[in-house]
Parts: sequence; structure tokens; C-alpha cells
Amino acid sequence: MDIKKENRRLWAVNRAIMESDPMRRTLTNKKLRKKFFWFGFLIKGFEVAARLSPFYQKGKKNAANPFINQVDLVFDSLPPAFDGYSILHMTDLHLDFIPEITRRICEQLRSVKVDLCVMTGDYSNRIGGDYYKDILAPMEQIVSAVQHRDGIFATLGNHDTFKMVGPFEDMGINMLINETCDIIREDSKICVTGLDDPHYYYTKEMKTALEKSDIGFKIALVHTPALYDMVRDNGYDLYLTGHTHGGQICLPGGIPLILHLDRGHKYYRGKWNYDGMTGYTGQGVGSVGIALRYYTRSEITLFTLKTRKDTGS
Ligand SMILES: [Fe+2]
Repeated sequence: MDIKKENRRLWAVNRAIMESDPMRRTLTNKKLRKKFFWFGFLIKGFEVAARLSPFYQKGKKNAANPFINQVDLVFDSLPPAFDGYSILHMTDLHLDFIPEITRRICEQLRSVKVDLCVMTGDYSNRIGGDYYKDILAPMEQIVSAVQHRDGIFATLGNHDTFKMVGPFEDMGINMLINETCDIIREDSKICVTGLDDPHYYYTKEMKTALEKSDIGFKIALVHTPALYDMVRDNGYDLYLTGHTHGGQICLPGGIPLILHLDRGHKYYRGKWNYDGMTGYTGQGVGSVGIALRYYTRSEITLFTLKTRKDTGS
């Protein structure tokens, strides 16, 4: 029996059940609703007010024009064979929300060549929307635009359905559903573990996947930063994530008004450190609810991993 195939089949059955449930499954085991009807009214009210303000065009521009944010990450633990390794990170693309976002992502990617591309979920905006019609064609364009050496690894977010996994793999994306894939250089390796979304769909298989990963430089791809301590406890060096959109609508100084997080609030944006593990929470490429951003920008992140050099001092 093909164990990976059987695990995937069991995962898909369980995910389908969870997707049809209005309650979400969280690490903290709280019974929480996925959606609150008043939230839509709140967003609409904010949008009407923003339209009447002089800041409306600025908010639209921030949301619809992704920029490439170049970030160097230095590690003591990175094998020298991976010194200079580049990783393109895109999260929260929400491709069915801002019509021009796919074209603008592809324009940005044209000049970028990377070793690896990773995506941490929320390809979709409408939960339960028509992924076949709205997501697959733009994803194919993005996959074609990424120039990579070692592939595209991706996980799902809370806006996504399990039904996307097969079509994404047919496009050449290596979906990691509580699974690990190794990248080898000379006699060293990077282990990349991707988990299912823990915001709506937490299961114990996530912890098991982290525990099972091998020795090496370890990278976790998780839709939200909520598992920061569990990931660190399993010896991971780098945690790449998203979901928060960096707050999307923030006060001056990037202070978020709303963060859809149960835990890990202080890791809502950019580079962070938890007990020696480096984390990075992308601001997201797309937007959700309202096509505006204030004190955040649509971000594609280009990491360069570096081995810390011994200065001899
Ligand atoms: Fe999300």
C-alpha cells in the first residue's frame, strides 16, 4: 500500500468534514465560529467611509501593487552548501478578489530567479467559492512566471479547499500536507515541512509531522504563526507564515485593528524570533474583505539564507 496516498486520502475525508462544519478546530480546542455575520457589515461600513476620504486611492494602490521585499536571514545552523540559498515566499494571494493582482504578481516575478519558491496558503478569497473557475487559471499563470531551481512547495490556508490539492500538483506544485520534503546539496540537506491550516483545521497530524522530520536545517511552512512554540520545540530553524496580512488596515506605525489569530499575536508581521527560531510573517500578496491597505503593503518576500561567518574576533 502507498502510505502517502492513503494518508492523503484520510486527510481529504477529514478535511471535507471540517470544511462543511461552521465551527473551526483550533489548537486551543475552543468552539469558535468560522464567520460572524456582523463582520461583513463592519467591513462594508469601513469601505463606504474610506471611499469618502482623501486616502481611498492610496489604500487601493497599497493593496493592488505587490512589491518584492528582499530580506537576508543569517543562521549559525545553515550548512555552508546552502549559504546564499534564495527562497521566494508568497502568502495570502486571494486571487479571486483584486482582478489585476495576478498580472501584477507575474510582472514582479519576471526579473527574479530563485532556488526555491514557497507559498503558505489562502489562494482563494471566497471560502467555498468556485476554486475551479476563479483560482486554477491565475495559479497556472503564477506557476509559469516563477523561475526556480528546486521547485515550488505549498500549503493550504483557511480560505482554501482540499479540492485544490490535486489540480495544484498537476501544475507542478509540491503540496505539503503535514509532510516533509528534503532538498539536498552536497552532503547536507534542508528539510521543508508543510502543515495544513491550523486556524480552522487543526489536527494532531500537524504535531506528528513536525516530530517525524529528519535531522538537518529545518523550515516549516504554516499558514498562521499560531504554532510558533510547537514548531520551535521540534528543532526548526525557520518558520514561514502569513494569514494576518500584516494587519491589512493599520493605524500609523503599522498597529493592526484586527488580527484573526488565537495566539502568536506578536508575530503578526515581518521578521521575528522565538527562543532561537527565526520566523517571518508575510504581509500577504492579496487582500481580503476590502481591497484596501493602510500602513501595510502587498508583499512578495525574497529571502537569502546566509551562514553566519566566524569573524575570528
Ligand atoms: Fe488565512
